[in-house]
Amino acid sequence: MNKEKIALVTGVTRETGLGLETARQLQELGFMVIVTGRDFLKVVELAGESPLLPMDIDISNDEGINITAATVKKVYGKLDVLINNAAGYFDQHGTLLSTDMRYVQEAFNTNVLGALRTTKAFLPLLKKSPQGRIVNVSSSAGTFTDPVFGMPFHPANVPVYSITKLALNGLTVKLARELKETNIKINAVCPGFVATWPGTAELGARPVSEGAKGIVWAATLGPDGPSGGFFRDGQPVPW
Ligand SMILES: NC(=O)c1ccc[n+]([C@@H]2O[C@H](COP(=O)([O-])OP(=O)(O)OC[C@H]3O[C@@H](n4cnc5c(N)ncnc54)[C@H](OP(=O)(O)O)[C@@H]3O)[C@@H](O)[C@H]2O)c1
Repeated sequence: MNKEKIALVTGVTRETGLGLETARQLQELGFMVIVTGRDFLKVVELAGESPLLPMDIDISNDEGINITAATVKKVYGKLDVLINNAAGYFDQHGTLLSTDMRYVQEAFNTNVLGALRTTKAFLPLLKKSPQGRIVNVSSSAGTFTDPVFGMPFHPANVPVYSITKLALNGLTVKLARELKETNIKINAVCPGFVATWPGTAELGARPVSEGAKGIVWAATLGPDGPSGGFFRDGQPVPW
């Protein structure tokens, strides 16, 4: 068994994104980190000369996920941490009634089913880890209670995005139940409002390094840590 701790992060194609920052923080903690994205050349470019290992995953279909899982199995024989970070479809000021159903289907296929199919593909490798950890990067947009970004309140509405994140939280609860008797813990994490896009810091978004810390917290939980929860900065988020 490989003694090195191996982590894999999806959706690592932007210098200012949470994926790359999470990967860097895990690497600083001693993990060998596989960074993935659907724009493979971009992932390679971002990894640069660092020890981050680029691989090719588009979470909207099985092919790249299965090839990468087979490669990780062959090279490392296990996976310790899976970060389901990739997502999209932030439908600002959209409405459910006017949005094309193909858009809604693609959003669910990426934000919800993408996390599920990635989790399923890597599960056998996570089971080989003494303590496998899965983190679903969610959002307070998928809560009923957040007074700013919750379902009834969000200033930009983002209805499709919000419902996918609500579903991702539900998926997390159900998978935690199914994985109860294993060494695997799975949690959803809201990174907070994070300055991953230009102009958002001016609107009050916090540094990416702060948002990534809560993801890394859930990725490195000890054996007594929670499973099936929804957290921000290591604290439970009511939803
Ligand atoms: N920033 C915030 O304030 C905030 C708040 C709450 C939650 N979040 C969550 O945090 C996570 C990261 O967001 P971010 O702000 O860092 O934005 P981001 O850089 O746009 O991250 C999303 C990543 O997902 C990738 N992606 C989209 N569809 C994909 C697919 N089919 N296969 C593989 N990768 C795919 C994107 O790649 P492409 O470049 O190829 O599109 C991008 O790299 C997301 O889950 C987001 O919902 C962010």
